[in-house]
Amino acid sequence: MRYAVRLLFLIFKNSHRILKRDGRKFKNRQTPLKIGHRGAAGYCPENTFASFNKALEMGVDYLEIDVQMTRDGELVVIHDSTVNRTTDGKGKVKDFTLQEIQALDAGSWFNPTFSGERIPSFKEFLENFAGKTGIVIELKKPSLYPGIEEKVAKELKKRTQRLTEEHKIIVQSFDRKSLKRFHNLMPSIPIGVLIKNTGRGISNKELNSFSHYASYVNPKITMVNPRLIRRLHRNGFKTIIWTVKNKQEMKALQQLHLDGIVSDFPDYF
Ligand code: G3P
Ligand code: CA
Repeated sequence: MRYAVRLLFLIFKNSHRILKRDGRKFKNRQTPLKIGHRGAAGYCPENTFASFNKALEMGVDYLEIDVQMTRDGELVVIHDSTVNRTTDGKGKVKDFTLQEIQALDAGSWFNPTFSGERIPSFKEFLENFAGKTGIVIELKKPSLYPGIEEKVAKELKKRTQRLTEEHKIIVQSFDRKSLKRFHNLMPSIPIGVLIKNTGRGISNKELNSFSHYASYVNPKITMVNPRLIRRLHRNGFKTIIWTVKNKQEMKALQQLHLDGIVSDFPDYF
């Protein structure tokens, strides 16, 4: 909440510059993409079919998912590197087989009415949602899963016909090495570099390095200010901001010239 008020203040302080800049481009200005975080994680257990379907009902342009890998080399859609928080099981994702991990209940922790929910495999996710909506795929902790980039690329390549222009894919990660590897495998897929708020900002050297493989630079919401957005655009990047968790934050971000907003509550857009 305090953050949203500070952001509104910054926008107000810079409003003459924003208007001046946008004055030229206003006609072309697009609404930011609506991106459902782990589906609609504010309403349903994250990264489950229930959550993805809810987000689609709410009209998202893209679903955001987190992808990791099981012991038997299958890709699964889950955020944490353990199953402890979001299932009735315990242990590391990489120590389960696909069959074992899919036997866990991935819904009851959120609400008993979701007890039938399972951890989706990446294949199941693509079978059900590719071609219906855009997808933002986060390679989560890829250093734990050697070869994950090749496996994700292989699944996407199998479905190129369904992944039309209209239903786009973006691949993002905090792990820059992994993004470079993925970019070399599928150069046509836009890459997003996720940026944590370390307090150090983003250096020009980093921006220059991102420009070799990334189209998006995606900072955490607490880093956002009008100057940063202008700087990213000036350097040729698009930007998706994560993660909106209340209406004040959404209102503040909608004053900025963003390319996408990730939210747990897709109906706040
Ligand atoms: O889309 C960005 C966001 O998902 C990154 O953070 O922790 O929610 O995966 P996290
Ligand atoms: Ca994520």
